[in-house]
This record gives sequence, C-alpha cells and structure tokens, in this order.
Amino acid sequence: MKKQLLVLLTAIFIGFGVNAQVKTTETTVLVLIHSQNGGTYKMAKAIAEGIQDYPNSKAILKRVPSINSKEKLNADVEKLPVATIEELVNYDGIAFGSPVHFANISAEMNSFFSQSIPLWTSRALEGKPATVFMSAGSGAGKEAAILSFWNILASHGMIIVPTGIMGTATLDKTVPQGNTPFGATSLAGSTGTRPSPSELNLAKEQGKALARAASGLKNTESAKILKTTSVESKVGFDINKTLKDNNITLPEAPKPVGNYVPFTISDHKVYINQVALKDGKILNPGKIGATVTDEQAKEATYQTMLNVIAVLKEACGGDLNKVKQCVQLTGYFNTTPEYTQHAAIMNSASNLTALVFGEKGKHARATIGAFSLPINSAVEIQAVFEIE
Ligand SMILES: Cc1cc2nc3c(=O)[nH]c(=O)nc-3n(C[C@H](O)[C@H](O)[C@H](O)COP(=O)(O)O)c2cc1C
Repeated sequence: MKKQLLVLLTAIFIGFGVNAQVKTTETTVLVLIHSQNGGTYKMAKAIAEGIQDYPNSKAILKRVPSINSKEKLNADVEKLPVATIEELVNYDGIAFGSPVHFANISAEMNSFFSQSIPLWTSRALEGKPATVFMSAGSGAGKEAAILSFWNILASHGMIIVPTGIMGTATLDKTVPQGNTPFGATSLAGSTGTRPSPSELNLAKEQGKALARAASGLKNTESAKILKTTSVESKVGFDINKTLKDNNITLPEAPKPVGNYVPFTISDHKVYINQVALKDGKILNPGKIGATVTDEQAKEATYQTMLNVIAVLKEACGGDLNKVKQCVQLTGYFNTTPEYTQHAAIMNSASNLTALVFGEKGKHARATIGAFSLPINSAVEIQAVFEIE
C-alpha cells in the first residue's frame, strides 16, 4: 500500500517481538501494589525511595485493578496508574506489595496474577528479579503470606530477592516490628503510627537490594523472553482462550473509508494498516510530545493493534488460530521533531502481539516519527502476518 507521508525519521528500531524492549542504561523497576487503606502504599513509597537511591535506577509505582467496582480505596492509592499484566515484561525488576489477608496475599493481587497464564507459558518473566513486601494488621501470618506470594513468583521463574537481616542493626526492638528475612512488612494495626521508621528503613533497604539485582541482571535478560515451552507445545496454544483469559475483547474491524480494502492476502501473507479508531472516533488524537502524553500514546497504540488483530481475524475467516507468524510491525507516530521514545510506545503493540500469539507473535519491527498522520491519529500501524 502506498503511503504519502512526509516522514521524519527520528528513530528506527528493528527487533523481535518483546525482545524489542528498550535497553537504556537506566534500570527501571516497577513497584506494583494492592492497597485498600494505604498501609502497603506507604511501604511502597519507601521501597521506591530505596530503588531510586541505587545508582541509575528509576522506580515506577502502580496498582493492580480493583476486582470489586465498589472497593473504596485510599485516595492516594486511587490516583496511582493501573498496571496491565502484559507490561510486567517491560521492567528490569518488580517489587510486589500486598496487604496480608488471612495469612495470604489479597484477592486483588491474586486475581491480577490469574491473568498471567500466557506470561507463564511463554516464560516471559523468567530470570527477572522480584521481591515482596506487605502491610499486616497484627502481623499474624505475615511470613506465610510472603511465602505464598513467593510460590507465584517461583512458578514464573523469577529471581526472588529476600531481605535476610537487612536493617536489623538499627531496628527499634522496644516495640514489635514487621521485619522478616523474606521481605519487609508493617504492623499497621499495632499503634496507629505505622509504618514505623524501622519498617520504612527495612523497606528502603529492600528496594535498594532489588535495584542492585535488577541492575546486575538487566543486560543478561534479553535472550530468554518468550521461549516456546513444553506446556505450550503439548497442549496447543488457543488464541481464543488467551483472549478470554486476558479479558481482551476485539473491537469490530474498522471499515475502509476510501477505495481500498481493510486487508489483502498474497502468498499466505496478510497486509493490514490501521489507526487508533475506537467506537468511530480517534482515541487520544494529536501530536506525541506536545498534546499527547506517552501514556496516551501507548493507549492509542494498544487500540491500533487491537484494530489490526480484529481485521486479521476477518482475514483468517474468523479463526485467529490460523495465524502462523506475525512477520513485521511498523509503527508510525505523529511526534514533535525532538521526540525519541517511539520504541517504548510501540512496545504496547509488540507486547499485545506477544501476549495474544505467544511464540507466533515474534516479529521484526520498525518505528518511525511522522509530521502528521491521517485524521490526526497519534499512531498508525502497518502489519504483515503469515497465515495458513
Ligand atoms: C480480609 C482481611 C483479612 C486480613 N487478614 C489479616 C491477617 O491474616 N493478618 C494480619 O496481620 N492482618 C490481616 N488483615 C489486616 C490487614 O493486613 C491490614 O489492615 C493491612 O495493613 C491492610 O493493608 P492496606 O492498608 O495496604 O490496605 C486483614 C484485613 C482484611 C480486610
């Protein structure tokens, strides 16, 4: 398909699927929490502080989605960005925080991980450093709760960073504290003034330890993402089940608005081009780096890729299991001239592709900055898939 775009080539990145992760010198660590009353959130801030204390390390604080629309969250927690399961692959390390609920992790955190089957079967988190911290009431069952969280992380093959006796030298031993050798906790029900300075210090040390592990391991990570597993090859990879397990609903395939077709098929290759249309309107239109934020651009890119997959489904006669490979994705982004984060934004399309198609989602990729895009879309994706 011919494109008449005045293209400013500001960044081109070619890689394979989610292996096309941006590798900067900075270590990026996610602090992902569930917190109802804010106790875990306070601990998370100390963890983030510890991460940022480690040279060249950045902490990003997010929460898991609520599973109950009536859940009343602490106001500060409510404001946190909500993480998606597929974005976990993007970080160099992850600190997980949850309240202790009945000597276990919270239902919300558990529900979040119940969506991680595709990451598990594709071994996408294997070798990634992780640590666990918690907020408890009396502290009853706090260690069991951390260890039950460890079971999930071990299932994903993550490298678990424990705390040992970090921070105990300065621990105020005149009152009960939430220290454990597995991870920091806070006894929030103890005095009403928790987390205590000692508990915050433990959390800070823990954050620093995770950042150290993440920094050391990050350049060894790229080789292992998305390998085919025996699980996947034995039981088969059903794309419809993957979509359902991840609550991904494909939109109706957008209709052409000119003298062209939504896709062509030539020699078992399907060619598709889409912009960020959602319910007949462009999602987050405008220029990235000026009127569109990176988060909005990622959302628009995700939507564009959903549209691509919806069209692909039509091309496959309704059965996405006919897809043999995502061959190539090209992302065009309407950006300011100095903008450079194209690859990071395109990851939301690449990660979705990897999540939906597993091993078949591995693709070559290019990202390109443009002065403008049709109907003021912030993004356009050209996709080539091979089908049966
Ligand atoms: C359903 C439920 C179960 C709980 N179970 C425990 C428990 O087993 N042990 C404990 O020490 N605290 C328990 N708590 C108290 C919470 O762990 C405590 O209030 C925690 O600080 C909440 O964290 P948040 O402020 O981040 O929401 C429970 C609270 C709830 C709501």
